[in-house]
Formats: sequence, C-alpha cells, structure tokens
Amino acid sequence: MKKIIMLGGGGFAREVLDTIDVINTHTEDSIAPIGFVYDGGSKDAGNLIHGIPVLGDLSYLQNVDFNEVRLVAAIGRPVWRRKMVEEAKKMGGKFMSVIHPTVTLSKWAKMGEGAIMQRFCIVMPDAVIGDFFISNGFVGIGHDAVIGDYVHMNPHVVISGGTEIGNDVFIGLRATVLTCRIGDGAVIGACALITKDVPPNMMAKGMPAKFYEMDEKKY
Ligand SMILES: CC(C)(COP(=O)(O)OP(=O)(O)OC[C@H]1O[C@@H](n2cnc3c(N)ncnc32)[C@H](O)[C@@H]1OP(=O)(O)O)[C@@H](O)C(=O)NCCC(=O)NCCS
Repeated sequence: MKKIIMLGGGGFAREVLDTIDVINTHTEDSIAPIGFVYDGGSKDAGNLIHGIPVLGDLSYLQNVDFNEVRLVAAIGRPVWRRKMVEEAKKMGGKFMSVIHPTVTLSKWAKMGEGAIMQRFCIVMPDAVIGDFFISNGFVGIGHDAVIGDYVHMNPHVVISGGTEIGNDVFIGLRATVLTCRIGDGAVIGACALITKDVPPNMMAKGMPAKFYEMDEKKY
C-alpha cells in the first residue's frame, strides 16, 4: 500500500482520485490517498473531498515523513504545478507517477518523474517526456516527440511524431500539433491547429493557429 498526499484540490485533483480508484479496483497496486494539500488549504482543513480530508497548505508537508508518504502533483496549470512541486521538494517531498491502466506507453518511450496520465493515452516509440508531465484522457503522442518538464496536455490533444515541446507548455483540449517546435511557456488554445513553430511564451489559437502576445501568464 502506497500512502500519498495530493498536491491540489480542484477539479483535476478529483479526476486523479478517480484514476487512483480505477488503479485500486483493477490492478494489484494499491494507492491510499491520505489527504489534499494546496495553497489556501489551511482554511479548508478538515473538509472532505470524496471522503478524503483537506490537510492544509504546503506548510503541512514540513511534518510529513517522506519515507512513508509520496506526493502526487495533481495541479493542472504548469505555472502553479512547478511552484508547488519546487516548494514541496525543498521540504524533502518525494513524488510518484499515477498512470491509468488503459495508457499505452511504448517500451521505447521515456518519461520523467511525477507524471499523471489519464485514460486511453498513447505514447509512441522513442518519444521522450520530461518531469511532471500531465496528460488528460485520449492524448496521442507520436514517435520521437521530445517534451519538456511541467507540460500539460488536455483531453484529445494530438502531437505529431518528431514534435519538440519546451518546458511549462499548456495545450488546450483537442489541439493538434503538426511536426514543429513549441517554445517554453507557450499556451496553445483549445482546438488549435499548430502548423509552424510557436515562439516561447506566446499564445497560439485558431485553425491554422495565429500567435498572440500574453499580458499575463495564467497557465
Ligand atoms: C486560448 C485561450 C487560452 C484564450 O484565452 P484568452 O485570450 O484569455 O481568451 P478570451 O476568452 O479572452 O477570448 C479572446 C478572444 O479569443 C477567442 N478565443 C478564445 N479561445 C479560443 C480558441 N481556443 N480558439 C480560437 N479563438 C479563441 C474568443 O472567442 C475571443 O474572441 P473575440 O475577441 O473575437 O471575442 C483559451 O480560450 C483556451 O482555449 N484555453 C484552453 C481551455 C482548455 O482546453 N481547458 C481544458 C479544460 S479540460
């Protein structure tokens, strides 16, 4: 039995809880979530999310024995996920991945630590994925794609073989990326068709996508 604390307490964290329930029901692995920790969580401490308590904010982790407990980074937006993971690591936090049993990960693909992959995702041979990757359901990643750290792909995203994606990139649902490069910190809108390189920290939306400056980094 692996005890875990979830970082995050929003809709995505509840989706991860659902995946853990599937893992516990259909595989021999057993994961026991003991609580949620998130920014502002101290005011909700004691509340239950599907029967599991909110423990507090990140400071709660100072008293956790990380020989006994692992963390799961269940926060959708890359900017928030990176911030919380880096702070948790300073407190000794150790992370584990949560991979839905329906995911097909090629034996020739590589993935870093702390990933969350939801149902029916496919990763093809020789794809290389960085740390703290999140894919929602039905994501497809082609052969030889290279994907950075803290990337989030929303449901039904399709990434062509050989695409290069930087760090902290957020890709909205149903976006399709033809083989190209996406720079660090870019935000790709829902349903975008990406046909050429996206510069770092730009927003791309539309079909085919056009690029826009971002006033503020929301994702
Ligand atoms: C692309 C995105 C980041 C744009 O954010 P934004 O600039 O703050 O968008 P706004 O809501 O201010 O809309 C600005 C304009 O862009 C348009 N727009 C918004 N999202 C768009 C998209 N995905 N594709 C094309 N146009 C879009 C709006 O219609 C609006 O057009 P208008 O100026 O002609 O009225 C956002 O809409 C998006 O697609 N997010 C991804 C959501 C997602 O996948 N969530 C996952 C849930 S599981």
